[in-house]
Amino acid sequence: MPEQNITYEDITPLLLKYPKDQRHALAIMQDMQRHFNYIPRKGLEALADYLGCHISGLYSMATFYKSLSLKPKGRHIIKVCDGTACHIRGAVNLVSGIERVLGISADEVTGDGEFSLELVNCLGSCALAPVMVVDDEYYGKVTTDRLPEIFDALRGEARP
Ligand code: FES
Repeated sequence: MPEQNITYEDITPLLLKYPKDQRHALAIMQDMQRHFNYIPRKGLEALADYLGCHISGLYSMATFYKSLSLKPKGRHIIKVCDGTACHIRGAVNLVSGIERVLGISADEVTGDGEFSLELVNCLGSCALAPVMVVDDEYYGKVTTDRLPEIFDALRGEARP
């Protein structure tokens, strides 16, 4: 959801699930991440207000934890491994295929908010190179002709 469409009515229920105690800051930010697919600026401001703390501390946490993002991400996060084995076995070609099928480059989100693309280091499944992970699902030896089918199936999944 773009920042301009997010209201405090969207954010408040996420805050109220927790007592006003700074030790819950991370859990609340994780809930925001799940809900919005990122931590909106308004979310950080509202959380700082709610917990009575300074926003800079929350900002540091949001940038420290890899599972949190201050930039919008897609509902489905595609990670393409660009480690050595995957690079040799076609990661570049795979990324080009994703760019063609979805119209996004690395670190971008599709216009419908469904997908974002990230390049990552070795995912620990080199025997399956080239490897792509979407959300928590691994796809090994991925060829570009499989991409439309994979993404269509994910697009069709119901929202939680
Ligand atoms: S290099 Fe891609 S999984 Fe190891």
